[in-house]
Amino acid sequence: MQNRTLGNSGTIVSSMALGTMDFGTMTSEDDSFNVLDAFVEAGGTLIDTADVYGGGASEKTLGKWFASRAADTTEPVVLATKGRSPAGDGTNDQGNSRRHLDRQLNQSLRRLGRENVDLYQLHAWDPLTPVEETVAFLGDAISAGKIHSWGISNFTGWQLQLMVSTARALGVAAPVTLQQQYSLLSRESESDVFPGAAYNHVGLLAWSPLADGFLTGKYSREDNPTSSTRAGSDNPIYQFTAGYRAADPRTWDIVDAVVKAADEVGASPARVALSWLHDRSGLVAPIIGARNVDQLHDNLAAADLHLDAAVRNRLDEISAPRVGQYPYGPFGAAQRARTVEGGAPLAAVIGDAK
Ligand SMILES: NC(=O)c1ccc[n+]([C@@H]2O[C@H](COP(=O)([O-])OP(=O)(O)OC[C@H]3O[C@@H](n4cnc5c(N)ncnc54)[C@H](OP(=O)(O)O)[C@@H]3O)[C@@H](O)[C@H]2O)c1
Repeated sequence: MQNRTLGNSGTIVSSMALGTMDFGTMTSEDDSFNVLDAFVEAGGTLIDTADVYGGGASEKTLGKWFASRAADTTEPVVLATKGRSPAGDGTNDQGNSRRHLDRQLNQSLRRLGRENVDLYQLHAWDPLTPVEETVAFLGDAISAGKIHSWGISNFTGWQLQLMVSTARALGVAAPVTLQQQYSLLSRESESDVFPGAAYNHVGLLAWSPLADGFLTGKYSREDNPTSSTRAGSDNPIYQFTAGYRAADPRTWDIVDAVVKAADEVGASPARVALSWLHDRSGLVAPIIGARNVDQLHDNLAAADLHLDAAVRNRLDEISAPRVGQYPYGPFGAAQRARTVEGGAPLAAVIGDAK
């Protein structure tokens, strides 16, 4: 694993993050502890959770693990959690209001058994709360020592820019990371959101990097997920995502290409798909969702696999997001193009994603 900065912050993290969405629910406490131990043993430091994962079960499991392990095991951990999603049935039990985030952050800290988290992420945009209210709350949480930095997740490009610009206008630290669904099966954010992140030096964290297991090659057109897997479980969210992935013929063309590349390089498809992601520009870390230690090791090994240009280009081509010609496609890019004789180093950052 490499070390990278946590986006636009001075905190250094491992280039593979551990996601804990299913800890304490689909992944038993014992299995969760084994995966956590193996992750830190392998040099992993960045761990991601959220207030709503398993109705708090993920944060509680992490809290128990922190309490049961020696300080030299847990001290290097850089911990990220989130707030915003519905945490109850009440009108105010969700959103990015000061009221809701304040309650959720305090509850997260209690469940985790910690005085602070390193990264506090807004789980999604809130169309009702003024951004000034949210940003001021986050600034106060930093001043109170409850969070060290903040990030956003599931935002569009204009929403990201608004958060950054508002933070600057209010004299509050800007978001350091953007956590977005990103994999060979989900590259739509490349058109608009990621260029916004690059312009503002916001680092990328990639969720569902194996597209719920589809990029491991264990499912095919003929063999859809079985009930022993998460994608085949009766959990309505996983049923929904597995359903739309399986129904899109493009999914299987991309999976075929990953399996073929894996055969060529002599690695598992999961390792190939994660390596493609791990080496993307602007990426801090894929957030891997291993259910057991074998999956964890398979996935972590991706950090040491670097695909050659021919394989990478083939995967780039087959998975390229559909953007049409304008404004994100070639016609729009041609209209915005500007070149400087001799090259201008910042042009690549300020211009289009590619
Ligand atoms: N910000 C957000 O809105 C958001 C949303 C979703 C997730 N996340 C974060 O991203 C993390 C990862 O997401 P994810 O769990 O969806 O990731 P994922 O890697 O796309 O899917 C993980 C699932 O794939 C299967 N799998 C993983 N590695 C495998 C391997 N090497 N071989 C075979 N099967 C393998 C496992 O399920 P089976 O063994 O059951 O098939 C595992 O539970 C979450 O824990 C969470 O921290 C954030």
